Amino acid sequence: MHSFHYRDSKLHCEDVDLGRVAQEFGTPLYIYSAGTILDHYRRLDSALASLDHLICYAVKANSNRAILKLLADAGAGFDIVSAGELFRVRAAGGLPDRCTFAGVGKSREEIEYALEQGVYSLNVESEAELDYINQIAGAKNLRASIALRLNPDVDPHTHEYISTGSHENKFGIALEHAAAVYERAAMMSNIRIVGVQMHIGSQITETEPFAEAIRKVSPLVSELKAKYRIEFFSIGGGLGIVYESSLASGSGDWWQASKTALSIQQYVNAVLPELRELKLKILLEPGRLLAGNAGVLLTRVRYLKQSGQKKFAIVDAGMNDLIRPALYHSYHEIVPVDEPRSSAREKIDVVGPVCESADFFALDREMPELQEGDLLAIMSAGAYGFVMASNYNSRPLPAEAFVHGNKFALIRQRQTFEDLIRGEVGPTF
Ligand code: LLP
Repeated sequence: MHSFHYRDSKLHCEDVDLGRVAQEFGTPLYIYSAGTILDHYRRLDSALASLDHLICYAVKANSNRAILKLLADAGAGFDIVSAGELFRVRAAGGLPDRCTFAGVGKSREEIEYALEQGVYSLNVESEAELDYINQIAGAKNLRASIALRLNPDVDPHTHEYISTGSHENKFGIALEHAAAVYERAAMMSNIRIVGVQMHIGSQITETEPFAEAIRKVSPLVSELKAKYRIEFFSIGGGLGIVYESSLASGSGDWWQASKTALSIQQYVNAVLPELRELKLKILLEPGRLLAGNAGVLLTRVRYLKQSGQKKFAIVDAGMNDLIRPALYHSYHEIVPVDEPRSSAREKIDVVGPVCESADFFALDREMPELQEGDLLAIMSAGAYGFVMASNYNSRPLPAEAFVHGNKFALIRQRQTFEDLIRGEVGPTF
């Protein structure tokens, strides 16, 4: 599957020249390949064909309605973490009874909304939350369907900010306490136990942490199935993607490179045998795997600047548009949209216009020689890109566009200055 590649020396997404999209909608601009998202979804779905399963896309990775609709139409469920995400799923035509609702700090309003909508399961992260849900469901004369989120205490070998499955983290209920909490839940008159959930972290690039977590939790899952006739076991998301490719050298296409990551097949091979034994519906909550490599952030070089030994390319996107490099020091490949004619390369920092030294996309990166006005693509920005963007420095949020085959369309308008102050009121005293 070719989604981002040079054709006639111009970077294309599917069959669309990215330069044309930038010309039409301006920069900074997020562009997503619908074909890639669908391809990743279908690959995972067919690798799991021998299991009763449901892929619940983690909406937090990229929540644009066009993407949610694409996946809802393909048959996906959704993993949501707020009432706002549930609202989006509904607005995109997704079904609440295919949604699981995670999160350590759900509010009364969120729990009420989820119950009214009839989500498949509220994934409970503490005893206090369980009590609260029972009480709210009681007031509504309902039974809340719940799963407990278990913390299996495994090290997923990923960045500490996105590691969630060890006892050091705030997430889930410790495995050794889980049986007792289920017992309490079973006594509650407004709770219906429907499943078990876990999620050990994100951008995981080895199979072993996933397999270890499943091995640790499976005996309890079998016990819960016998005792409470639970329907599902959700093994969470977390599959890592490749952020470095051979595209920069002009020698390949993005998909070819991403096949060298932890492949879908390796992942499925590692988890399938144990899961098959359980004879339960298996839920997965991938976010990055589906959307990450399907998106780029297009940005234009505004100025070049030499400062002592250092050279900077100051681009029109900033950390407010894509915060991952600043927050996690994460690597994103950056390539020119017009394939460089010369092989000359230089070390350069690619930085944004925001007033912070953390406002960078690449430091001391070897890049083709850049010119002012060059259009660049920051690769693999489809997940945790736009969703984490902010108005910092009063910068309007960027636009988003969708590509499918040889078609492209705007899926979010660029914010205006008026948008920046909308909702600010008063003071009235
Ligand atoms: N399920 C739960 C309960 C989660 O907390 C997450 C992600 C997922 C599923 C999806 O994980 P994925 O398949 O996308 O790895 N902002 C960070 C990533 C934060 C992930 C938070 N939880 C980043 O930019 O790397």
